[in-house]
Amino acid sequence: MSYSVELHQVGMTFGATRAVDDVTFIVEGGEFFSILGPSGCGKTTILRMIAGFLQPTEGRILIGGRDMAGLGPNQRPTAMIFQSLALFPLMPVWENIAFGLEARGASKAERRRKADELLKLIALEGFGDRMPGELSGGQRQRVAIARALAVEPQVLLLDEPLSALDLKLRQHMRAELRALQKRTGVTFIYITHDQSEALAMSDRIAVMSAGVLQQVGAPRDLYDNPATPFVATFVGETNAISGKVMAVENGIASVETGLGVLRGRAGPGVSAGQGAKLYVRPEALVPGAGGDNTLSASIERIDFEGAFALAHGRFDDGAALIASIPSTDLSSAPEIGSRASFGFASSHAVVLPDG
Ligand SMILES: Nc1ncnc2c1ncn2[C@@H]1O[C@H](COP(=O)(O)OP(=O)(O)OP(=O)(O)O)[C@@H](O)[C@H]1O
Ligand SMILES: [Mg+2]
Repeated sequence: MSYSVELHQVGMTFGATRAVDDVTFIVEGGEFFSILGPSGCGKTTILRMIAGFLQPTEGRILIGGRDMAGLGPNQRPTAMIFQSLALFPLMPVWENIAFGLEARGASKAERRRKADELLKLIALEGFGDRMPGELSGGQRQRVAIARALAVEPQVLLLDEPLSALDLKLRQHMRAELRALQKRTGVTFIYITHDQSEALAMSDRIAVMSAGVLQQVGAPRDLYDNPATPFVATFVGETNAISGKVMAVENGIASVETGLGVLRGRAGPGVSAGQGAKLYVRPEALVPGAGGDNTLSASIERIDFEGAFALAHGRFDDGAALIASIPSTDLSSAPEIGSRASFGFASSHAVVLPDG
């Protein structure tokens, strides 16, 4: 059984900076849990508090049900992989992996055996006698992960471990990390500012903004049911159309906008009379009229992205439009410079009050 991690009303203040404000969430044992948010929002600070490198100014942290107050990093069942990982360049791969075991009194033969076992786990069998400089970036990344796993942590804390890799390698490593997590059953807490990475890898995601927890949910849930304007715009692309709520009926809000009355699912806290925005994803906009709502815009450019193309345009009130069109349907794409209509279903849009 791997350990759960609980944060209860955790806060951290550095001088005048409120880095983390009243954050509460529970990570289940064996879960792949991500913390997603822009630079400076407090992600690393949360991880360092869980690892014991920082003591929170307020609140409690429990790991495996046990209060961690006053315990240092070596007394916690955690291991951390840092944002800028570093292997020891003059040490062969196997010694890098077994590094943490020496302090625990393991003999050289034991350390070698453990390192070889972990090399197999990260699919680098036979690489133990190479030097770090003789590995690719992705292979070095896997060695850093093996080194963290060597001390048999219950909880592995990963701070943007893939950010230095190119896109192809990053995508490959996502799948590898995910498989490794399932194979070991270790609880992973994974930090990233890359929303597609968080969506692809996680069981659940916590979204942070400026030290404040915005929402915790499964990837699909965050994408389809954002609870705050920040989550609606940070997780995935979206169109935001401003207006005023006229009525809410059967969970559908009617919003009077500069583009006419539009309807979408009412998010948390929406009521008649409020200023609000309707959010609709680029892939929910279908060229041509149709669905429960129709919008029109002038098309400024179409960017071909491979699997799909993105049409960029302007609504009559000057706001930006973005619509995605599958490459197989490009013949239905509007002409650049033309006015085009797009339809969408109310069930594909969400309405949230202005924050
Ligand atoms: N030791 C420190 N002393 C003072 N301020 C700090 C300290 N560590 C972090 N901060 C501040 O706390 C805030 C949160 O920092 P943190 O490193 O947690 O952000 P982050 O979400 O990890 O960002 P990034 O994605 O850039 O790594 C920032 O405003 C940062 O400047
Ligand atoms: Mg950070």
